[in-house]
Amino acid sequence: MNLFDVYPLLDITPVKGEGCYIWDENGTKYLDLYGGHAVISVGHSHPHYISRLTDQLNQIGFYSNSVQIPQQKELAEKLGQLSGYPDYQLFLVNSGAEANENALKLASFVTGRKKIIGFKKGFHGRTSAVVAVTDNPKIIAPVNETPNAIILPFNDLELLEEKLKTNEIAGVIIEGIQGIGGIHVPAEGFLVQAENLCKQYGAMLILDEIQSGYGRSGKFFAHQYSGVEPDIITVAKGMGNGFPVGGLLIAPEIKPWHGMLGTTFGGNYLACAASLAVLEIMESEKLIENAEKVGSYLIEKLKQISGIKEVRGLGLMIGLELDQQINDIRHVLLKKHHIFTGVSGTNTIRLLSPLTLTKEQADVFIEALIETILE
Ligand SMILES: Cc1ncc(COP(=O)(O)O)c(C=O)c1O
Repeated sequence: MNLFDVYPLLDITPVKGEGCYIWDENGTKYLDLYGGHAVISVGHSHPHYISRLTDQLNQIGFYSNSVQIPQQKELAEKLGQLSGYPDYQLFLVNSGAEANENALKLASFVTGRKKIIGFKKGFHGRTSAVVAVTDNPKIIAPVNETPNAIILPFNDLELLEEKLKTNEIAGVIIEGIQGIGGIHVPAEGFLVQAENLCKQYGAMLILDEIQSGYGRSGKFFAHQYSGVEPDIITVAKGMGNGFPVGGLLIAPEIKPWHGMLGTTFGGNYLACAASLAVLEIMESEKLIENAEKVGSYLIEKLKQISGIKEVRGLGLMIGLELDQQINDIRHVLLKKHHIFTGVSGTNTIRLLSPLTLTKEQADVFIEALIETILE
């Protein structure tokens, strides 16, 4: 059987990882500034992560959500404490799209309404409802087309109010920082006003922190720079450091009923062990503080490089918009300097390194980038 060939692959086969580095099958060492698409939060193959997972596997690997799983409660408590949302309720799933899909369903259940607002350049996943509120017609199949999805220009409060005034909107979904769209931080005041408008017109404010959450922005959640308190926050990616896990943090006012949401694999023992290990490492190694510190340093340094049109982002979620073709630059960074980076569109390099990145590693990238741009 062949693989269903949907990914344009790099010709690299990673076989080992440690911290911010990965090695390919020929023993070449790479600096990973992409984190496997914002997933590696506490570094590759962290010893505590490995022992948490193997210990759990030695105890019990799986049972369904029909029994008590104390690790879920432990995770909810730790996540509530570290994220600053101790009163929220946690629902565990397996991926980002699944988290958002459940968030939209929840908003619809709670409000009794059908319509969801998303924004231009937003990305929320590839399953049915969330792809419909994603701004990319290329990935929306006919079955996903729905009049219930409305895409508005990002940061446009006037249009947002106009739509909310119809009292038909169940929820408004916003990325903490737009990731795939090119690293766009919401404009000053946008989230606060969006929160006020959602409250005024009875819609749920959903913050998609799947890429921007878990410390990547230099705060636990990127929206915490604005001081808003969403009704629902969705998480995945960095939450499991590679183990597939996602979740919804749900405001205390939203009351569940049995059967409202459900999943077979969500919240399994291994997912909880991986997620707990991530939080424990983030706390003990002060990784959010590190992301803020090293991220600010890197952003400042990048702003001084001529040839970069714009540097956007917060913490270690950084976009570099260039005038030139970034695919060539990315290729040289990978093949000559052995540095992994990501892309958004045709002109933005996207950095999503593990939160363990050091200033020295940031300097290695800066030197390599200057050399590559000059070439
Ligand atoms: C902001 C955002 N939301 C949702 C998703 C979908 O997550 P997953 O690929 O785990 O379904 C992504 C993935 O890139 C994302 O960046």
